[in-house]
Amino acid sequence: MKQPVRVTVTGAAGQIGYALLFRIASGAMLGDDQPVILHLLDITPAMDALQGVRMELEDCAFPLLAGVVCTDDPNVGFKDADYALLVGARPRGPGMERKDLLEANAAIFSVQGKAIDQNASKNIKVLVVGNPANTNALIAQRNAPSISPRNFTAMTRLDHNRAMTQIAIKTGKTVNDVTNMTIWGNHSATQYPDLFNAKVSGQTASDLVDQAWLEGDFIPTVQQRGAAIIKARGASSAASAANAAIGHVRSWALGTEGDDWVSMGVYSDGSYGIAEGLIYSFPCRCKDGEWEIVQGVEVNDFSRAKMQASEQELAEERDGVKHLLP
Ligand code: NAI
Repeated sequence: MKQPVRVTVTGAAGQIGYALLFRIASGAMLGDDQPVILHLLDITPAMDALQGVRMELEDCAFPLLAGVVCTDDPNVGFKDADYALLVGARPRGPGMERKDLLEANAAIFSVQGKAIDQNASKNIKVLVVGNPANTNALIAQRNAPSISPRNFTAMTRLDHNRAMTQIAIKTGKTVNDVTNMTIWGNHSATQYPDLFNAKVSGQTASDLVDQAWLEGDFIPTVQQRGAAIIKARGASSAASAANAAIGHVRSWALGTEGDDWVSMGVYSDGSYGIAEGLIYSFPCRCKDGEWEIVQGVEVNDFSRAKMQASEQELAEERDGVKHLLP
């Protein structure tokens, strides 16, 4: 049996946390030969609820669960962490402007970035789920100067999965027939799901649908799926978000399949003309625990305009929290 790794989950007492922790402990994220010690971090008022989650984790008797730490102290939460899933975030309250939301979250993610810097493994792999995910990832990364910026990523896998299913349904196929999907940009309404490079049974997806459906139906459906779920369910997508987080970390740690790729919000190296240093979603392949941005993906004028609009939004978000970026 391998040595256990430490996996920190913030917001562990929340909705996504509840859908996520049991799957991590079951081996779905890191493989069924990798024991884990879970570090559950939440805020002080959530500590009772967190004890309930711990009891349920214990009651599952997961063979791979080698320990559970519950805490409201980020220094304890990130101590020696090998992986961190930053899920906990401040939701938008009534009358809260986007700017207020950015600020409130920037405060949380700068504290957590510092705690990661001071306590975690230098090889930690960080996934930010809490919104605004890309900019929260940027803030955490900039507050952790002793750790490679490549180790901070943001989640667009849920958007990626949503896009795969929409094109599968439209073409009468299943997700098993869909490959090479890309979400470009920000995890927000400006994200760009790309059908010009996606394939369905080996055929270019955009050739199988008309432009009116692509622009008027597919893109808005993927972009606004989160809002549609809140409207229908009266609560935000938690199970599918947790599933996407499992998929993101699993691909990163254990590798992507063959020639296929996944979408990950990663530190831009200037690929595709995207400003260096933004956390931007690109097509990525992973091997041996490292991701790389897939090069040479075709970008037509339509795609370019959408990719730049999302880049612009990310640059504005970054500038809005400039004072919190060391
Ligand atoms: P929730 O409100 O059920 O849970 C959030 C948890 O975070 C709560 O337990 C809260 O106490 C905790 N928390 C707040 N501040 C914290 C801090 N400073 N440190 C540690 N814990 C803290 O929310 P839910 O549904 O679990 O969603 C969490 C986040 O994930 C939200 O920001 C949501 O917008 C985002 N999300 C992101 C998606 C993506 O695709 N990137 C998809 C769906 C949700």
